[in-house]
Amino acid sequence: MCGIVGYIGPKKAVPILIEGLSKLEYRGYDSAGVAIINQGKIQVEKCKGRLAALEERLKNNPIEGSVGIGHTRWATHGEPSDVNSHPHSNKDFTISVVHNGIIENYLKLKEWLMSLGYEFKTETDTEVVPHLIDYFYEGDILKATMQAVSKIEGSYALGIICSKEPDKLIAVRKDSPLIVGKGQGENFIASDIPAVLPYTRDVYLLDNREIAVLTKDNVEFYTLEGLKINKEIFHVTWDAASAEKGGYEHFMIKEIHEQPKAIKDTMTSRIMMDVDEVKLDDIKLTKEDLESISKIYIVACGTAYHAGIVGKYVIERLAKIPVEVDVASEFRYRNPLINKNTLMIVVSQSGETADTLAALRLAKEHGARVIAITNVVGSSVAREADDVLYTWAGPEIAVASTKAYVTQLIAMYIIALYLGRLNGNLSIEEFRLIRDEMLKLPEKAEYLLNQKETIQKFAATHYVHKDMFYIGRGLDFAVALEGALKIKEISYIHAEAYAAGELKHGPIALIDKGVPVIALATQEELFEKMLSNIKEVVARGAHVISFAFEGNDDISKVSDAVVYLPKTLSILAPVLSVIPLQLLAYYTAVERGCDVDKPRNLAKSVTVE
Ligand code: F6R
Repeated sequence: MCGIVGYIGPKKAVPILIEGLSKLEYRGYDSAGVAIINQGKIQVEKCKGRLAALEERLKNNPIEGSVGIGHTRWATHGEPSDVNSHPHSNKDFTISVVHNGIIENYLKLKEWLMSLGYEFKTETDTEVVPHLIDYFYEGDILKATMQAVSKIEGSYALGIICSKEPDKLIAVRKDSPLIVGKGQGENFIASDIPAVLPYTRDVYLLDNREIAVLTKDNVEFYTLEGLKINKEIFHVTWDAASAEKGGYEHFMIKEIHEQPKAIKDTMTSRIMMDVDEVKLDDIKLTKEDLESISKIYIVACGTAYHAGIVGKYVIERLAKIPVEVDVASEFRYRNPLINKNTLMIVVSQSGETADTLAALRLAKEHGARVIAITNVVGSSVAREADDVLYTWAGPEIAVASTKAYVTQLIAMYIIALYLGRLNGNLSIEEFRLIRDEMLKLPEKAEYLLNQKETIQKFAATHYVHKDMFYIGRGLDFAVALEGALKIKEISYIHAEAYAAGELKHGPIALIDKGVPVIALATQEELFEKMLSNIKEVVARGAHVISFAFEGNDDISKVSDAVVYLPKTLSILAPVLSVIPLQLLAYYTAVERGCDVDKPRNLAKSVTVE
């Protein structure tokens, strides 16, 4: 977690760092800070709270200087406070550091440094870094950094400045993302590309255990052992404007509205009208490779995990290969049975989620083949997997995932169709039927976005409730899980998703007069059973909003409100049914006055275990 930026060049560093941090606030936002080399001295300003609080302080105490680092924090060690905010510095403020990640052996290092007389002011793990560099410093900041990181265990992306070498900015990476932006007479570092896009489209993607030395005119790269390396520039083609709000009140609602395009982009050149195969240049799996695969694991976290549950249904149904879905943080500790006959599909919007990455590495260690579904080109999972299927959702800024989820669903359908055709378990007739319906999804999603009044009305009358229940059967249950997560994370209402048939085995005891129940009924073969389940909760006083395909009018007789979805195949329903659930979460959060794009306690990219 946390966002880091750095600048070296001829301009004033503070405005550039602040602008960069504003693009990274999604990575954490409980405190922020900058350190600038000003006339041979490092000056630090940092404080608890949003970036705006830091800006206010800098307005009152402006800092000059054209070399600096900045940080926006999501606390791991030490509560959010002024003193625990980054940057952290050595005693005489000649070395300052910003850090994203966790230093696992910091207590041991801290004890050792304290025994040498170093004094610690904070509860953070990061503070050992400036002291360690100070300990090794003999006039060469690069060398001292290399020696310091050789002592560190854990994950880190570090930005480092040293007032004794004011013409250098150091960046080093292990297991936390970091990029270098190459400008004209100025250079940048950042945790993510949008932070440097106002200045340059040419970036270097740092790999693990690499270190970059930036001057204003040059960037050099080394391994942590000091070997010089050449890196290729990655030219960013997407538009900076696509990372801005574009007239919407929040990023989340903008991203919800971008879904028709995201769905279309993710299918483009892979699934085409009248083409009787899935074109997947990105996945090099042969028929023979597939024959040797006896099991698929889908591993992910949060929303991406929910996309994985849909993936299990559709891959088992279309390709007839057994699939297990696992939460990444559980997977690696349960001694999963992995071997060379295993195919793992990891799903990660950011491509940097620590647990997902660890699961991927575990699978590779045991000889499995790994396909990554990710939204970020050049991210860690993309680089470490054998094959990558990119979801072309564009940058997702709101912490609550929306457009990434629907594109992950599309990726799952694409893989299921591809595997089903490759192993012969999917007939060409069924392939064509699903393909043709998939190609209509962007238009249907667009239509659905224009039908939001019922949802707004439901949100306006039910936003006061403390609990909500989401129910569904089959694929609807998978979507119910995602709907409940969405409302929990942005509106802070306690929400539970249940397989509708499971209600009477316990949870129905929670249903009381007026409790909102969100009922999904898009699975044709389960429709009648779902109607019975809805009646069961209505009989206990629940207030039900249902989601069903147009034409299934019977549902209105048992529901207080109904949102009708444009007709598609039941197997594709999740792509459409999740959209009103996202809108319900959004409008409920707005009614409750919540900070929709930056919900409390959360961060967009979870790069710690
Ligand atoms: C919820 C949400 C999270 C992420 C999860 C995994 O709206 O966004 O649950 O889905 O943290 O993140 P990625 O997909 O980046 O691995």
